[in-house]
Amino acid sequence: MITPIARLRCIACGDTPESASCNFRCTRCGDLIEFFFPGWSFDSAALKSLWLSRKTSLKALDQSGVWRFRELLPPISEEHVITLREGNTPLFHLQRCGRATRVENLHAKHQGMNPTASFKDTGMTFAASSARQQGFRWVACASTGNTSASMAAYASRGSLHALVLIPEGKISWGKLSQALDYGALTCQLRTDFDGCVRILNELVCQKPVYLLNSVNPYRIEGQKTAAIELLEQFGWEPPDHIIVPGGNLGNSSAIGKALLEMHELKLISRLPRLSIIQAEGANPFYRCVREFGGTKLEPVIAETQATAIRIGNPASWKKALRVLQAMGGEVEQVTEVEIAVAKAEIGADGVGCEPASAVTLAGLKKLRRRGFVKPGETVVLILTGHVLKDPDFTIRFHRGELFAEPGQEAQAKDARHLQHVPIALDADLGAVIAALDAAETRM
Ligand code: F0G
Repeated sequence: MITPIARLRCIACGDTPESASCNFRCTRCGDLIEFFFPGWSFDSAALKSLWLSRKTSLKALDQSGVWRFRELLPPISEEHVITLREGNTPLFHLQRCGRATRVENLHAKHQGMNPTASFKDTGMTFAASSARQQGFRWVACASTGNTSASMAAYASRGSLHALVLIPEGKISWGKLSQALDYGALTCQLRTDFDGCVRILNELVCQKPVYLLNSVNPYRIEGQKTAAIELLEQFGWEPPDHIIVPGGNLGNSSAIGKALLEMHELKLISRLPRLSIIQAEGANPFYRCVREFGGTKLEPVIAETQATAIRIGNPASWKKALRVLQAMGGEVEQVTEVEIAVAKAEIGADGVGCEPASAVTLAGLKKLRRRGFVKPGETVVLILTGHVLKDPDFTIRFHRGELFAEPGQEAQAKDARHLQHVPIALDADLGAVIAALDAAETRM
């Protein structure tokens, strides 16, 4: 199978530079750049069977759910590849959530089942490998936590040094602890995520440090593979609808790009719709589409307990807008209580996810109410992070401590039946049996 030629192109002015600038912005107009593959074509049946055959291979490259699909990615030579066998994430049928939303064919593609427990690993294996290929010693990112955990891990695996910029006090302990354990130089800046991005963008143009945020087009290419793998899991029969959380908007852009490319290459016969959900307190893209018809994005000061998507000025909004329009999707925003309830519902299905991922189910409920999603349709929620990423949120939810604001209390009533408070008992058999009997009578 021939690897196609990959070129860079500016998404706004169409300039096709030979190489990327330090901040991955177009040197002519300042917009984002992306990969494209001029004139590529494949025998789609042969490609599908090649990918499938790699599942029995013992080669590290084939065991990765990213590199297994390398024909649709820019070339990187094998000796530079850094892989933790990322991808290969499960697709779960969400039975309870399906009944509750009356979408019986509801599935979750759990990207939190990646090596560092978030979807970031699929993009990071690819972009970190490109850093190594280009001879960088240092890589860096600004992060709400998951990117930094992932980058730190891949950097260490590839003997690179990692610089992490995170907003002080605004990322979960789980994610911070990962960055520390993987050995990153971790700077907690007294600002928010958007402030960290501003500083990093200047730094990478002054120092020989490789930027690993999702403006890096290699990240987007790696993240495409989640959609390819998803379609393979569906036997190449596309679902009707895919729902993605929106923060910095790299992931929705990547999944949309993959679907459009697979359609162009005739790997799939039709396109699913792709919808993007944001938290109400961090909703600049929702406003961009709903209030400004996609003509501009006004940054907001972001505030949400789903800290992964606490982002006010998303870098990839134009890329996300393009896929939203090409795939006939919708945008929605969901409240803090809706997020917490949806997270507990995904948990009650035995799957679980971090708060930012749960916006997908909360958004689906809204799209169902509006009639945008119909009961007979097949819907996939992209769960982006593992349930253990933010245990503080989960414990506070179950203890009833999450919603302190007066306006939230009435809404929080919806959550009561999902709350499971731990019971402190004496070490006494009778006490445990009494608790069991009491639980049985409540059922
Ligand atoms: N879900 C989780 C768990 C995330 O960590 C993120 C982003 C998103 C959704 C949103 O994805 O930014 O591609 O639209 N986290 C980044 C980080 C920003 O630094 O870890 P997006």
